[in-house]
Amino acid sequence: MQLKLKLTVVAAIAAVAGMASAQDVVKIGHVAPVSGAQAHYGKDNENGARMAIEDLNAKGVTIGGKKVKLELIAEDDAADPKQGTAAAQKLCDSKVVGVVGHLNSGTTIPASKVYNDCGVPHVTGAATNPNLTKPGYKTTFRIIANDNALGAGLAAYAAETLKLKTVAIIDDRTAYGQGVANVFKKVAAEKGMKVVDEQFTTDKATDFMAILTAIKAKNPDAIFFGGMDPQGGPMLRQMEQLGMSNVKYFGGDGICTSEIAKLAAGAKTLANVVCAEGGASLAKMPGGVEWKKRYDAKYPNQFQVYSPYTYDATMLLVDAMQRANSTDPKVYIPELAKANFKGVTANIAFEPNGEMKNPAITLYVYKDGKKSPLN
Ligand code: ALA
Repeated sequence: MQLKLKLTVVAAIAAVAGMASAQDVVKIGHVAPVSGAQAHYGKDNENGARMAIEDLNAKGVTIGGKKVKLELIAEDDAADPKQGTAAAQKLCDSKVVGVVGHLNSGTTIPASKVYNDCGVPHVTGAATNPNLTKPGYKTTFRIIANDNALGAGLAAYAAETLKLKTVAIIDDRTAYGQGVANVFKKVAAEKGMKVVDEQFTTDKATDFMAILTAIKAKNPDAIFFGGMDPQGGPMLRQMEQLGMSNVKYFGGDGICTSEIAKLAAGAKTLANVVCAEGGASLAKMPGGVEWKKRYDAKYPNQFQVYSPYTYDATMLLVDAMQRANSTDPKVYIPELAKANFKGVTANIAFEPNGEMKNPAITLYVYKDGKKSPLN
């Protein structure tokens, strides 16, 4: 009797296992800061990837003639370079076949080596430092413009359109903040602007009174800030407190969020912000408006910047697997490199180094507290 019961249990387990293998699970990783001061960006990014996975599973995905179920393995790197490489290693160990991320250049650049070493491709829709693609890893892909384009676009607008003469530069000493500030500084100087002061902070600071007071003494037309909104928001408030209400405030995609309007907490200096993002505005994306409606219905009040890109990055990975008839990174990476993918954000194709071909950039201002595209 007992033996018969055991055999029945074994048979039942085998049947369940058989069912599971009839529909293989394909794991895709996602990494961003979902804790700490940058959690709002990270959650938005993760939402975009999750939405893509849900859309794909709802439609049904077949790869190499086999129906598969996609699973998102979401990790938190807290925007910290060390946690970034640890999260990347964890994803490699858990046998994800592709990764969407990371969000910050400071985490993405060191993580890119981990992915290269384990042979798993990663697609970032947020990290913008040009150095990311310098090593030439076959596993690194970016689907937005990098900081060379953002810094130059902002400097051209400051010097040529607004005809500003002087600027003070602040950066948060991260790979992103430092990188984008350096590009702006170089191009602004080439276009005849004078850099009257340079100050530094960190991506943890919230008190900028000392550096702003030093800058105020130099009376610049504008400040360029290389950094993120947990610093940008309070900085705008403190500029108002110091009577720097006529100083323009430039920054890259890191400050180009919905959240900065909240963090500025009613400071009028929000109206002085000009920021740049490495893609088209939602209205000009091929599928932006319809996609944003669906996103807002699913994740109300969580939209920040990059979720349309993490959505496309996820779709792009699966599209390459389908064209390759394989989820094996070795087999599908060449197809990913050859992508010609009609995404929500753009038509995505890559340069040989993994940078996107012909990415758009968009400048934004804040009108009545709301982020509005200039082009
Ligand atoms: N674009 C920002 C970075 O590269 C988020 O860190």
